[in-house]
Amino acid sequence: MRRGIAILGSTGSIGTQAIEVCLRHPDIFSIELLTAKQNSKLLIEQALKVQPNAVVIADESKYQEVNDALSGEDIKVFTGIESVNSLVQGESIHIVLTAMVGFSGLEPTISAIKAGKAIALANKETLVAAGDLVISLAKESGSPIIPVDSEHSAIFQCLQGERSKAEKLILTASGGPFLKKSIKDLQNVTISDTLNHPNWKMGSKVTVDSATMMNKGLEMIEAKWLFNMKPEDIDIVIHPQSIIHSMVQFKDGSVTAQMSSPDMKLPIQYALSYPNRLELNTKRINFTEIGRFDFMEPDREKFPCISIAYDAILKGGNIPCAMNAANELAVEAFLRSDIQFTSIHKVTQEVVNGTMFVAKPKLSDIIDTDRTARIEAAEIINKLKAK
Ligand SMILES: NC(=O)c1ccc[n+]([C@@H]2O[C@H](COP(=O)([O-])OP(=O)(O)OC[C@H]3O[C@@H](n4cnc5c(N)ncnc54)[C@H](OP(=O)(O)O)[C@@H]3O)[C@@H](O)[C@H]2O)c1
Repeated sequence: MRRGIAILGSTGSIGTQAIEVCLRHPDIFSIELLTAKQNSKLLIEQALKVQPNAVVIADESKYQEVNDALSGEDIKVFTGIESVNSLVQGESIHIVLTAMVGFSGLEPTISAIKAGKAIALANKETLVAAGDLVISLAKESGSPIIPVDSEHSAIFQCLQGERSKAEKLILTASGGPFLKKSIKDLQNVTISDTLNHPNWKMGSKVTVDSATMMNKGLEMIEAKWLFNMKPEDIDIVIHPQSIIHSMVQFKDGSVTAQMSSPDMKLPIQYALSYPNRLELNTKRINFTEIGRFDFMEPDREKFPCISIAYDAILKGGNIPCAMNAANELAVEAFLRSDIQFTSIHKVTQEVVNGTMFVAKPKLSDIIDTDRTARIEAAEIINKLKAK
């Protein structure tokens, strides 16, 4: 039987690559659902090509356009995020790929988990905001959560067939576009400098997160929940070549690494085809051409977001959720040119400092924390703008 796939965020960087992966293996995958926020043109194009059962355009003002364009097709058209929550539970869907950006991924993921669907998780913010809740629900329903993030996919691949628990996880990081810049230089970096990632072509939110290294902080939290690890047993190592995607150290000192040329289609495909490996035309590694691998400690003074995330994970409860919300707003503000690059961590830290702690948050507490943190962050951003 073919695997029915729902691609949430199909118009984004991960979503478009996921469609490519599925279309290369039509005997294995059947795309059942595509969703987007507002990019109606691309969603229509994708729907005409893929012929899914249904599409959702979250932005209601774009519904008519999508509905009109697909009126002659056997494709149902919906709008609003609530439609996504119910459609992911459809019988023909086996795997839900969560490739939307930010906190918006949480509710559809929970909804899919409650229906026992397998989750191919790209949307790391879901586990950052509500890791405890999401993992408990997945255990209850038996939903597997397979990582799509290249680092977590690497760890997941290294753990295949292993009977013993990892002693340490080593998350590799490219270091982003500002690896060689001084703290002083970071004051004046522009949006285009920030979006110019050396190794990966990704959506703007995750690209800015890579530049501040908040991405690695979010990934540390994601790794804690996915692999049930203590924060102190998750290391970050800068590896500018982005060939080793992460490593696992075992109790005998053995370290296994997963390597490939940087190409997100590999972890996307692995998550969708797991436990099978399918053919993929990634650029093969030529070790003698590469010549060397470099490794270094991340500079936590230059990239304070790493420590903000580490402290948040140690505090636990609703604190990572508040941190995530503040970071999302600060990144958006930076991309609107409302604040400087170096204000992103300041906004985030200030919101975290002012968050009322909830030790064991329920979904309602998470939603409440997210909302409050966004209000706080918006106020701080407005003050910074007025300066
Ligand atoms: N890109 C990568 O290589 C990469 C690698 C590792 C992990 N990830 C993670 O994967 C996720 C997606 O990243 P991306 O780079 O693919 O992002 P992206 O290119 O910005 O795409 C985001 C997708 O989500 C949709 N979307 C955005 N906000 C939404 C909302 N509020 N409600 C519903 N849909 C929404 C967008 O629709 P519109 O196009 O209509 O706006 C688009 O389809 C993120 O969590 C990111 O951290 C990405």
